[in-house]
Parts: sequence; C-alpha cells; structure tokens
Amino acid sequence: MGEKKPMPVHVAVIMDGNGRWAELRKVPKLQGHNMGMVAMKEIVRKADDMGIKYLTVYAFSTENWKRSTEEIGGIFKLLVKFVAADLKELDERNAKVNIIGDWHDRLPQDAIDSVQEALDTTANNTGMVFNIALNYGSRAEIVRAVNYILENYDSSTEIGEEDISRALYTGDESGNIPDPDLIIRTSGEERLSNFLLWQAAYSELAFTDTLWPDFKPEEFEAMVEEYRTRERRYGGRL
Ligand code: IPE
Ligand code: IPE
Ligand code: MG
Repeated sequence: MGEKKPMPVHVAVIMDGNGRWAELRKVPKLQGHNMGMVAMKEIVRKADDMGIKYLTVYAFSTENWKRSTEEIGGIFKLLVKFVAADLKELDERNAKVNIIGDWHDRLPQDAIDSVQEALDTTANNTGMVFNIALNYGSRAEIVRAVNYILENYDSSTEIGEEDISRALYTGDESGNIPDPDLIIRTSGEERLSNFLLWQAAYSELAFTDTLWPDFKPEEFEAMVEEYRTRERRYGGRL
C-alpha cells in the first residue's frame, strides 16, 4: 500500500467534449475541434516526456460518420494541418506514428496522403509510438480479425486468444502493441464507445469531467500518478 506501481506502458485516451466546449462558449463546433487538436499536441509531448512508450488517441470512430459533412470535413482538415505543422517535431522526438482503423478507404484523399507521409517519415523511429485511431471501431476490428483468420488459417487449426490479438489492428501489423494499461476518457462520459473492447479486458479506466480542449498535461500526469496507486489483480488473489 502507498508504494507507487510502475508507469503505464500504454495509455489510451478517448478525447471527448469538443462539441460541448464550443457550445459553452457559443463558438462554432469546429473551433472546439481546433482547440482539441491543440490539447492533443500538448498531451503527446507530455506523454513522451514522461517516458510513456505507447500513446493511443481516439480521433475518429466508425460511428462519427453520422455527423454532418461539414464537421467531418473540418476534422480531417485539422488532421492534415496537424501533420503539416507537427510531423517534424514528432520525428525529432524519434516518435513513431501508427494508425489503427480503416484509414485507406473513406477518408478524404489529402488526409490519406498526410497519414501516409506521417507513417513513412517516422517508420524507422524507435521512441514513443503515437497510435492514432482513425475510422476505428472495435467491433469492426474484431470482425476483420475473424475474417482474416478464416482466410489465412487452415480450417482444422484451433484458434487461441493470441491468434485474435495478433489479427487486430493493434496486432502484427502494428508491431503488436501491448494492451492499454490505462484508458482515460474526458468530458464526464463513462463508456468506451466501441474503443479497444478486446484490448481493454484488464485496462484500468479513469474518467474526468474536464472537456477535452481544457485537458492539460498536468491533469494527464495526475491521472497517470493516480493509476500508479491502483492495485491490478487480473482475476488473481494476492
Ligand atoms: C470528441 O468531441 C471529438 C470527436 C468525436 C471527433 P465531440 O465532438 O464528441 O464532443 P461532444 O461529445 O459533442 O461534446
Ligand atoms: C468517442 O466519442 C469517439 C472519439 C472520441 C473519437 P463520441 O463522442 O463519438 O462517443 P459517444 O457518441 O458519446 O458515445
Ligand atoms: Mg462526444
């Protein structure tokens, strides 16, 4: 008791509350996303400075296509802007960009090109993995994994948990990202919204009422420190 546990290896963040932030200030919703992007950049820096090896951010879900074309277009424009402005710093930090989700298809072409550039530029970097969930949905990910296994495994093979894990976006194609130790969600909502359902089996969950654009590195650090006081049991008895 009282003793600090190890730092989390993988922290995942559900960046929620941009819309409500804008609503409260009576400014356009896209301004909320814009300030959310500013907040994200600071959290990426902080996570890297803290020595976190994997940072995953939920940027766009498979369900977010239900939003207006104007909002969706604005979000992807911000992604293009982010890569143009910040890829250099990420590269200088030796951070490696990784994407989970179906980013090849439905995204605007300039967003696809930006993602490809970020992946290519940082492909050989060995520092923090900055993992972005883009057009990501956990159920779609699991369905895709099952189809992959059906196509690639002999029908007599017995499938184990490892086979499923390796066929997920976070698996072989991402260099096998370990399951998140800590999942943070901002804006007071306490749900996963189709995020990392398989991978979150034993993740610690942490919620804050802070809206994403107001989420500061200090609060991120405080939530990580709080995580470090928790006792993880994985179903075992200590
Ligand atoms: C999160 O903020 C960003 C994305 C989902 C892209 P929201 O836009 O969901 O903000 P709220 O939940 O409406 O406040
Ligand atoms: C989850 O937030 C997705 C992202 C943060 C990208 P949403 O705002 O889309 O989730 P719900 O609709 O509140 O569950
Ligand atoms: Mg939301």
